[in-house]
Amino acid sequence: MLIRLDQAVLEATRKLKAAGVEGARQDAGVLMTHILKADRDILYREPEKILTDSELSDFNALIDRRVNREPVAYLLGVREFWSREFIVNQHVLDPRPDTETLIAEALVQMSDADKEYRVLDLGTGSGCLILTLLAERPKATGVAIDLSADALKVAERNADKLGLSPRCDFANGPWFAPVDGLFDIIVSNPPYIPKRDAPALQPEVLDHEPHMALFAGEDGLDCYRDIISAAPDYLVAGGWLCFEVGIHQADDVKNMMQHRGFSELKITNDLASIGRCVSGRF
Ligand SMILES: C[S@@+](CC[C@H](N)C(=O)[O-])C[C@H]1O[C@@H](n2cnc3c(N)ncnc32)[C@H](O)[C@@H]1O
Repeated sequence: MLIRLDQAVLEATRKLKAAGVEGARQDAGVLMTHILKADRDILYREPEKILTDSELSDFNALIDRRVNREPVAYLLGVREFWSREFIVNQHVLDPRPDTETLIAEALVQMSDADKEYRVLDLGTGSGCLILTLLAERPKATGVAIDLSADALKVAERNADKLGLSPRCDFANGPWFAPVDGLFDIIVSNPPYIPKRDAPALQPEVLDHEPHMALFAGEDGLDCYRDIISAAPDYLVAGGWLCFEVGIHQADDVKNMMQHRGFSELKITNDLASIGRCVSGRF
């Protein structure tokens, strides 16, 4: 059957809308240009292009996955973060734009571009945090930790892709268990969703992102408790601990850090004016 590009996109948009996907037309266009390995303007320049059988079946296979509410980034296999492209799949959290708030804050604490900072990233997932920091500070080195061996494989692939493998070590295990030595800065975007909030999550998140990356006990603060209690043993004098936090968690996390003896505590807002990053010095 001869199917035109515009017909395929229209039909896919209809299917996605029926499945409750927000931004159905946008997703159909993005997935079509991905399959065709073309720029966006092919949608407007060549609407009458006849798709080959394999283009059509590959496109329909991606649309079926999107109907099943798989996140677009997993379908594309990549996500842009701080202007770099990261490999992502179902083993890692799809990096969120809000997480760039933590990068902006950590770079303030790593202001000397010539310093050989030692960076520790707890719960690295795709590696987007530590690899961005190492890319921005060419003399920095670091260690990335994750409890998920599958997530670490993705982070290692990203280190290779970005040419950062020589400056980043990877270790599998819970928080500080695999860690040796002292660090100038510890960054972490740990799981922070309270278990009771699970029913309110979008299917893209609840059904497709790793639960190990999402949930943290009844109040969502369990991982902060664990990390804050041990972090001082792994920081140089005056070293920084910088967290991403969930909505309404910033004050609680700041108080926990204060009780543990951190100073110069600071909450940084994301672009929606939500307290998104808590940092402090030990
Ligand atoms: C919210 S994701 C953050 C991923 C990535 N850093 C980012 O910002 O996109 C949290 C990560 O912590 C990892 N994790 C969960 N519990 C852990 C633990 N006890 N020790 C080490 N890593 C853990 C998860 O596997 C997941 O990759």
